[in-house]
Parts: sequence; structure tokens; C-alpha cells
Amino acid sequence: MSRIHEALKKAEQERAAQGGQASDFAPAVAPEMPPLIAEDIEHAPAQSTAAAFPAAAPSFSTAFSLDALLARAPQLDWHPDEKAMLFFNGNESRRGTEEFRTLRSRLYHLRESMTLKRVLVTSALPKEGKSFTSANLAQVLVRQHGRRVLLIDADLRAPRLHRMLGTTAAPGLSEYLHGPSDEFSIMQRGPMENLFFIPSGNQISDAAEMVANGKLKMLLQRVEPLFDWIIIDSPPAVPVSDASVLAKACDGVVMVVRSNATPIDIARRAREEFPDQALVGVVLNGTNSETTPYSRYYYDAYVKNIPSESKS
Ligand SMILES: Nc1ncnc2c1ncn2[C@@H]1O[C@H](COP(=O)(O)OP(=O)(O)OP(=O)(O)O)[C@@H](O)[C@H]1O
Ligand SMILES: [Mg+2]
Repeated sequence: MSRIHEALKKAEQERAAQGGQASDFAPAVAPEMPPLIAEDIEHAPAQSTAAAFPAAAPSFSTAFSLDALLARAPQLDWHPDEKAMLFFNGNESRRGTEEFRTLRSRLYHLRESMTLKRVLVTSALPKEGKSFTSANLAQVLVRQHGRRVLLIDADLRAPRLHRMLGTTAAPGLSEYLHGPSDEFSIMQRGPMENLFFIPSGNQISDAAEMVANGKLKMLLQRVEPLFDWIIIDSPPAVPVSDASVLAKACDGVVMVVRSNATPIDIARRAREEFPDQALVGVVLNGTNSETTPYSRYYYDAYVKNIPSESKS
């Protein structure tokens, strides 16, 4: 393990001791992984390279290096859609926020028994709330102090997250998949601390080929050490294959089911697109307080038990 990876690991363990997740970090740095962090620190401006490894304070300086790397993602002026983005206006008790907190704590609970950092959000059909769920899940995760989250719009066919966040769609994922863009040139930050976003990029006609070409997996491997969670929005699973391809690059899948809308046989078909252990949660979206027993929920979240063979 290189000196840089060792230092990063140490910094992550220290973060974990203050409430983070030590176990997330080590397995994320696969030996064959392209050395994004090593490369970038070594090629970073002299000031940050020097500051990265002063003789006396390696762990503090490593945290500094991570911040320096992430600062390369431009800070943009987002104008979030306040109706759909539940956590941007500072009202912590809006309808739906509590259910996202529940989803968050269930994901953390699962994480105690499995590697769970890259989470794909999908559903059977269009308009069931995938983008709504992924964006609000990312927001509720960064509400916890010190947690860094990367939200990726991997729905290259009908991208929506940039509109919900009120920001630009490009440059983004399609530029990375098609060409030589680097990770930080497609990533952006907005007003919410620690929330980073990779939009879909310019629309392309070969989405299926691009999603399957291996570069997305490489992108995830390269940026994973920088984040506590990576939340990925996707197209619906039944009409197109992108979601099942994306799931192979993720640790878990959260399936959104639209209450009183998703036909059960279609939901089952979508579910069959993913191996058993990949499905970490089902979100029942749009529940009607008058017609369901979950009277206080507009939105509800369940996380299934993971079978023992999938535990690490
Ligand atoms: N629980 C909810 N509360 C309020 N608005 C919601 C909720 N769920 C979804 N919406 C709204 O419904 C619309 C469709 O949701 P969304 O875009 O998240 O669906 P989607 O499954 O991502 O669709 P697509 O398949 O087209 O990507 C959006 O305007 C979204 O803001
Ligand atoms: Mg969507």
C-alpha cells in the first residue's frame, strides 16, 4: 500500500473514531484501482503537495489533501426546486423528511453487516420517484456532520436531477464516459456543505453502450475513497437495461415503488433484474394518508433483511 493510501486510511480511521465508518475505507481501495488520489496529489500544485505531507502532522495534512482535491470541483449557484428538495430550505420537519431519516438509519444499520457505500436507486417504470428519492437521500445523508456524499445522475436518457437541484446538466457523466474528462471537471458543489454532484452531461444517443463500457465502474473506484456515500440515480429497470448494468458496479439497490401505481407483476419483473443480495431496500413512494395504514406517511421506506450468506 502506498504511503498516500496508508495516510488516507489513517485519516479515515480517525474520522470513523469521531462517528464515521472505518470499515468503509479499506476495501474501497482495491490494489488494481487507478491511483486517483496518489496521482492527483503528486501532480497537484506545489503548495498542496507540500502541505500534504509535512513531517510532523500526517493525519491532519491528509484531511487537508482530501479537501484540496475536492475543492477542485467548482462551486456553483444552485437553485433547488423547493417542492421536491426537502432539505434545502432549513425546515427539518417537512412532510417526508422523517421518512428519509428512517431510510438513512436503516442503511447505516445494514452497513454494519455488509459493504455499502455505492447505492443505486431505481424503480420498475418511469415517474415513480427515483430522482426524488436519490436526491433527498443524498441530502439527508449529508445532514450528518462530516459525511461527504456524491450524487450521480446516471439516467442518461431522461436526466432530471440537475433540474431538481437547479443547476447545469453539463459537463457531466456523458462527457466522462465518452472522452478524456477528469473526475473533478464533471463534479460540482452547491450550497449544501459536503454534497457533491455529477450531472448527466449532454444528452447522448448511445446510453446503453456508454453505461456498459466500464468507465463508470472506474469512475466509482477512483472517487470512492473521497466519499462516505455515493448515491446513483438511474433509468427505470424494466424498459431498459442500464439499471441492471449499473447495479453490478454498486453495493446495493434501493427500489422505489409508487403506491397504487406500480403494477405488482411489473415490480416483480424489475426486482428480478437484480440478484437477491443486491436489493437493500424498497421505498414505497406517494402513500396516501387516507388509504394506507401508514397514516402519517406520505412516503415510506423499508429495508429488507440481508440473507446471512451476503454478509461480509
Ligand atoms: N413523494 C413525493 N413527494 C412529492 N413529489 C414527488 C414525490 N415523488 C415524486 N415526486 C415528484 O414527481 C415527479 C416524478 O418524480 P421523479 O422525477 O423522481 O420520478 P422518476 O422515477 O425519477 O422519473 P423518471 O423515470 O422519468 O426518471 C417529480 O416532479 C418529483 O418531484
Ligand atoms: Mg428520474
